Amino acid sequence: MSKTIIVSNRLPISLRHRNGRFEFKPSAGGLATGLGSIYKEGENIWIGWPGNTVDDPEQRAEIILELHELKMAPVFLSKADVEEFYEGFSNETLWPAFHYFTQYMVYNPEHWEAYVRVNQKFCDAILKKAGPDDTIWVHDYQLLLLPQMLREVLPNATIAFFQHIPFPSYEIIRMIPWRKELLAGMCGADLIGFHTYDDMRHFLSAVGRINGLSSESGYIQAENRIINVDSFPMGIDYDKFAKQAKSKRTLRFVEEFGKQVEGQKLLLTIDRLDYSKGIPQRIQAFNQLLEQHTELQGKVSMIMIVVPSRDKVQSYKELKEEIDLLVGRINSEFSTLNWVPVHYFYRSFPFEELSAFYNMSDIALVTPLRDGMNLVCKEFVASKTDQTGVLILSEMAGASKELQDANLVNPNDRQGVVDAIYNALSMPLAEQKARMKSMQESLKKYDVFQWVKVFMDRLDHVKQKQEELTSKDVDTKVMNEIQASFKKAKKSILFLDYDGTLTGFHSDPQKASPDAELRGIVKDLSEVSQVVIISGRDKDTLGEWFKGQNIDMIAEHGVWVKRKEDQGDWELYAEIDDTWKGDIRKIMEYYVLRTPGAFIEEKHHSLVWHYRKVESGLGDLRMRELFSHLKYMARGYNLQVLEGNMVLEIKRPDINKGRAATAMMKGMEYDFILAIGDDWTDEDTFKAMPKNAYSIRVGYAYTKANFNIKSVKQVRQLLQKLTS
Ligand code: UDP
Ligand code: G6P
Repeated sequence: MSKTIIVSNRLPISLRHRNGRFEFKPSAGGLATGLGSIYKEGENIWIGWPGNTVDDPEQRAEIILELHELKMAPVFLSKADVEEFYEGFSNETLWPAFHYFTQYMVYNPEHWEAYVRVNQKFCDAILKKAGPDDTIWVHDYQLLLLPQMLREVLPNATIAFFQHIPFPSYEIIRMIPWRKELLAGMCGADLIGFHTYDDMRHFLSAVGRINGLSSESGYIQAENRIINVDSFPMGIDYDKFAKQAKSKRTLRFVEEFGKQVEGQKLLLTIDRLDYSKGIPQRIQAFNQLLEQHTELQGKVSMIMIVVPSRDKVQSYKELKEEIDLLVGRINSEFSTLNWVPVHYFYRSFPFEELSAFYNMSDIALVTPLRDGMNLVCKEFVASKTDQTGVLILSEMAGASKELQDANLVNPNDRQGVVDAIYNALSMPLAEQKARMKSMQESLKKYDVFQWVKVFMDRLDHVKQKQEELTSKDVDTKVMNEIQASFKKAKKSILFLDYDGTLTGFHSDPQKASPDAELRGIVKDLSEVSQVVIISGRDKDTLGEWFKGQNIDMIAEHGVWVKRKEDQGDWELYAEIDDTWKGDIRKIMEYYVLRTPGAFIEEKHHSLVWHYRKVESGLGDLRMRELFSHLKYMARGYNLQVLEGNMVLEIKRPDINKGRAATAMMKGMEYDFILAIGDDWTDEDTFKAMPKNAYSIRVGYAYTKANFNIKSVKQVRQLLQKLTS
C-alpha cells in the first residue's frame, strides 16, 4: 500500500534529557501542532529530527524503536549540525530573511555547507523508507534543497513541498548568496504550497528572475516537467479545540485560574520566543493603554505565554532579555497589592491548560510583525464556544487574509493597537458574537483535514497533468519510430521552425545565426529530404544565414517563400497592405520610449515589439499594457495581436505558417511529414498538418502537436538520427 511520508526538520515530539534518561514531550510551533492530527493515518510516517543530540549508538537504537511505535523515524543531527544547520543557516539566515528582518541575517559559507550536508542526510533517511508509489511531503524552510535532492534519485516520485513561513519579495531573496540553489531545490517538487497568495506571487517572481523559469497561472515550466505553485491557508483541528474548551478538565482549570484574576478583563498573548512575533511592542502598547486610560488600571491584565525557542541564537537571547526587562518595568510601575498588569510565563503549557487560557480570556492580542500563518489566533476563535470574545489580529499574519472579521491592526502603529484594545474592551456582545460566528464558520469549514485534502487533491491533479504531457514525450522509442518511418519514406518533407527549435534564444536576435553543427545537420538532411525552414524571421536574414543550402524557406510566418529550385528569388505569398503600419508604429514607439531595452522590428506584413532585453517584470507589464492598447486598435484595421516569446506581434490574421505550409505541400504526395516548432506561431503549422504527419512542440506546453520534445539539444539529436 502506498503511504505518505511527512518530512520536517522537527518531529512533532522532542527528546528531553532528564536524570540521565530520555523522555518525549510535544514540540513547539505551528508546524508540529498543525500536522499533529494527520500523520497517524494509514501507513504514514513522519521523518525528522528528535530535537536533541544523541551520540550513544545504543540509545539511538532504543529511540528508533520507540519512535517506530509512534510512526516516526528520527534523523539524528550532530552537535555541529545543530549549530551550523539549525541555529546557523536555518535560523540566522533563512528565518530572518523570510520574515524581513534583514538586519539579523548572517552570511556564513560554513553554515551553507552544513545546510547542504543536513538536507542530504534527510534525503538519505527518506530513501531508506520510500517505496515507488509513496508520496513524499517535505515541510518548511529548513529543507528547501530536499525536493531536488530526492528528484535526482527518484525522477518520477510524487514530491510536494509546503512552506510554513512567509516567502518574501524577490528583493530580499536576492540578498542570499545561495538563492539560486535554494529556489532550484524547491523546484524539485511537483507541487509547492504557501499559506497566502502573496507568498506564492513572491516565489513565482523570484524563480522567474533568478532561475529563469517562466510561469503561467501558477504553473512553472521546468525543463521536463510542469510544477504547480498555489496557496493553501493552513487550518487547525477545529473540533479538537472546540471540544476541549468545553471539557470538564479544562473547565476545572478555568475555574481555578479564574479565582486568581477575578473581576478582571483578560488579554491573552501566546507565542514562541521570536522577534517576528512583536512581543516587546505588545508590552509597550499595553503600557501605553494603562497610561492613557488610567481607569483601566486594576481592571485589565495581560496573560503572556512565551514558549522557549532557539535560545542559543544571539538575537533570541537578546529578545528574552528585552522582554524580561519590559515586563519587570511595567509590573513594577503599575502593580498594586491585589493586581499585576502582566502575568508572564516563560514556558509551554499542556493542551488542557492552554485551552483554559483561550476559554477564559476576553481578548486575544495576536500582533506579530510578520507571520506565515499564525495558528494561535485560530485556536482562540475555535475555543470560544459561547462566541464571546474579541480577536485583535495583525495584518502581517497570514491568517489576517482569512479572518477579516477580526479587529485588524498594523502592529507598528502603537496607538492603533492601543485603540483596538480599548474598543475591544467595550465591544457590544452582539457584535462580538456576530464576528466570532463568522470566523468560526470559516475555520470549521477549512480545518486542517480539509487543508490536507485540498493539497493532496491538487497534487494528484498535477501528477495527472504531467502524465498527459509526458505521454507525448519524444523518448528513445518514439525517436526510433520516426527514424524508421523516415528511412522507409520515398518522399519526405520537414518543416523546421528556427528560433527556439533549431537554435536557442539570444538577447540580440541578429546574433542567433546558425552554428557549424546546425549548418551540417541542415545540409545532411537536405541531401535526403525536402527541408523547409519555416520562421517568423525576415527573408533577408534567413536568406543570408542559409545561403547556398539546398532548402526551401518560408519567412515572416508565411509572407515570403523561396523554393530551392528558384535559386535566388523570394516569392510573395500574400498581398501586402501596410497602410495600418504608421498608426500602430506610433503607439509602439511610445512604449519603446517608456521602456528601456525595448525595440521595434518591422516586417513586411507585421510590426513586432521586442522586450527580451527589458528589466524582467517591467517588460511583462508594458507588454500587457501595449497588448490591450493594440487589441483595441487591431479591431478597426482587421489585424491580429499575438504574444510570442518576449515579443508582441501585430499582423494580418490570414497570414500564418499553417497556410504557407499547406501551400508548400499542394499537389504533392508525401509519405513522411515532420513539423517541429516551439511557440504559438507553430501551432498554425501543427493544425495544418495531415493526420499521418509527425508534429512536435519543443517544451512542455499544451499543444496541437502529437508530441513534445524537451529542448533544442534533443531536436538536433533527433534530426541527426534521421541521417545517421
Ligand atoms: N502552543 C503549545 N503550547 C504552548 C503554547 C503554544 O503547544 O504552551 C502551540 C499553539 O497551540 C500553536 C503553536 O504552539 O499551535 C504556535 O503556532 P503558531 O502558528 O501560532 O506560531 P509558530 O510557533 O509556528 O511561529
Ligand atoms: C515555526 C516553523 C517550524 C518550526 C517551529 C518551531 O512554526 O515554521 O518549522 O519547527 O516554528 O521552531 P523550532 O526552531 O523550535 O523548530
